[in-house]
Formats: sequence, C-alpha cells, structure tokens
Amino acid sequence: MLLLAIETTCDETGAAVLEGPRPPDVGVPTIRSSVVASQIEIHQRFGGVVPEIAARAHVRQILPVIDEALKQANVTLADIEAIAVATRPGLVGALIVGLTAAKALALALDVPLIAIDHLEAHLYACQLSHPDREVYPCVGMVVSGGHTHLFECVGPLEAIPLGGTIDDAAGEAFDKVASLLGLGYPGGPEVERIAKGGNPKAFAFPRAFLHDERLDFSFSGLKTAVLYALRGQKGLDLTPPSAQLVADLAASFQVAVVDILVSKARQALRQKGLNRLGIGGGVAANGAFRDRLTTMAVADRIELFIPPMSLCTDNAAMAGVAFAKLAAGQIADDDVDVLAGLVRAGRRTP
Ligand code: KG4
Ligand code: ZN
Repeated sequence: MLLLAIETTCDETGAAVLEGPRPPDVGVPTIRSSVVASQIEIHQRFGGVVPEIAARAHVRQILPVIDEALKQANVTLADIEAIAVATRPGLVGALIVGLTAAKALALALDVPLIAIDHLEAHLYACQLSHPDREVYPCVGMVVSGGHTHLFECVGPLEAIPLGGTIDDAAGEAFDKVASLLGLGYPGGPEVERIAKGGNPKAFAFPRAFLHDERLDFSFSGLKTAVLYALRGQKGLDLTPPSAQLVADLAASFQVAVVDILVSKARQALRQKGLNRLGIGGGVAANGAFRDRLTTMAVADRIELFIPPMSLCTDNAAMAGVAFAKLAAGQIADDDVDVLAGLVRAGRRTP
C-alpha cells in the first residue's frame, strides 16, 4: 500500500511516498519518492532558524512539495491509502503547518492518519536504509541542530530515553562556534572544512560529563571556552584572529564534540549491554565523527548503522516508521495535536 509522509518539524519542508506492507503484515517500506525543500537560504542571514519565518515558508512550500513527491512517485492522491505526519518534537508553528495539511488530506481521502515522533523517525532511517538487516534492539543516537539524545530502542516504536543535552544540541554548538569564528551558516560543514588545516591539540577544551555515568550532554561551556580562547579571558580582545588560530580553534572544538559524542554512545552501549548503534541527524555528516564511530565500532564489535546523508538530515521518508504503527493499530485521533518538546518520562507513547 502507498503512504504519503509529511515533515515540517523545523526548517525543511518534506514529503515522501512510501510503499509498504498492508496491515497486519509488517516489513520495511521502500521509498518511491522523497522531496525536501530546504529553507537554509532564507535563514542564512539570521545565522539560525527563525521559527515564525520557518512556519511561513512551510505554508508556501507544503503543497508544491507534496505535488512534487506524488509526481516523482508517479501516483496521484487517489492512490494514497494512509497519511503520516511528524507531530513532535519541533517548532510549534512549523509542526502545525504539516499537521494541518495531513489532517485535511486524511479527511478528504478518508484514509488513516498516523502521528510520527520525529526522533523515532530519525532512528528508523537506519532500518529504512538497511532493509535486510536487523537494526533493533539498538542504542539510537540523534545528533542534529535541534537534538542530541540517546535512546534504548527496543523496537521501531519503543525508544526509551537514556539521556540528552541539558543545553545546546551538538549541531547548534557547531553553528554557534562557526558564528564566533566568522564562518558561514550552517556552521557544521564550515567548521569541519576549516578544522582540516588546524591542530586538534592546540586547545584542551572541556568535555562535559565525559567521566560521568549519566548519559547527558552539555555543550554551552565548550562554546564559551572557544569564545575565551578567541577573545581572551574576558571575551574583550577584538583583534581579528589569524587564519591559523581559527583553524586550530575549529579543530580543537570539533575533536572535543566528537570525543563527547562517541564516548557517550559507547557508555550507553555498555550500560545497556547492546551491540548495535544507530545514528541519525545532520551532524552524522561530519567525517571526523563518522571515522571515530567506525573505529569504536570495530574495536568494540558494534554493528554501526549510519543512513546516507539524505536520510540523516530532515526528510519525510524516515516517517516510514508509520508502517510499523499501522501494523500495531496506532492510528491518530481526529484531535491529535503537535508537541514542541520531547516526551522524556518513561517510555515514549504512540
Ligand atoms: O538534521 P539536520 O539537517 O537539521 C536539524 O537540526 O533538524 O541537522 C543540521 C545540523 C546543523 O546544526 C549543522 O551545522 C549540522 O547539522 N551539520 C554538521 C555537519 N553538517 C551539518 N555538523 C558537523 N559537521 C558537519 N559536517
Ligand atoms: Zn531532525
């Protein structure tokens, strides 16, 4: 059966058509099309995502993006038998645009609506991109501009929160440090590029909670440490930094973030006695992070799942987890609403 998936949690408007088993059968769907309209250019001059502008851009883009996804899949709305939409967590104004479109379509087509948790979807991208392998149970790690979280994923619909950032997300830290260093937005790719010419040992930046049993993260102190190293202890030295200093700061910052992320993933695997690790989110594009994850996976005999970049960054296809929900009878009520934050207490519910 064919399902139309919609994604508007942050600054990407996404729609995808997926083909998967009809309930009660279960299985990994295939992607017939996946279209993403990025808002990067719109937010670039602000150095970050502006929520209200994001919501307005979704309003403009949602229908053309859905049309394009249907066109690329060579289907029409009449062929669609279910609608899935990310309803949490994310920017409220942005989420409402996707949910409103999804509700209207589900009502008009008289098909079931499935509410998707964006973080479960990010982790499901590991299964979607490895349909012939067993991904669950695993430790799932979502590392993006908005999220840095670890989960024990018992199955596609059962992600138990293990820890997360208490302040900035890792991608957000990359973006803020890039801005401090006078680099462009989004900052991650820029910091990675500049770091290649720098010395990762030039500055011994703090690695919060590194030796703590807790599986939480904190990146705001690291960001401030970069500022002090750049501007002096009071943050007041405004002399333009040399290119080498910028490269050394970028390299030392990046290695600190990678140290933190990889060691927390390793701790989570050990604490839960699991040997599979799934990664999601835009920071997975970082070569230093991928290399260190791969080295750790080989050393610890961990099966590592990293989706291709198009499924790591925000997209609607990862909402293919909806087929598992359909099979489990988890259909959304008509009054389903959006939720800005994470469901952190206990098990995540449908
Ligand atoms: O998942 P994503 O596309 O969007 C959300 O935040 O949901 O992730 C974007 C984040 C940005 O903060 C960006 O700076 C970061 O991922 N990022 C990177 C790299 N490419 C993107 N961070 C580090 N290294 C990269 N190569
Ligand atoms: Zn995301």
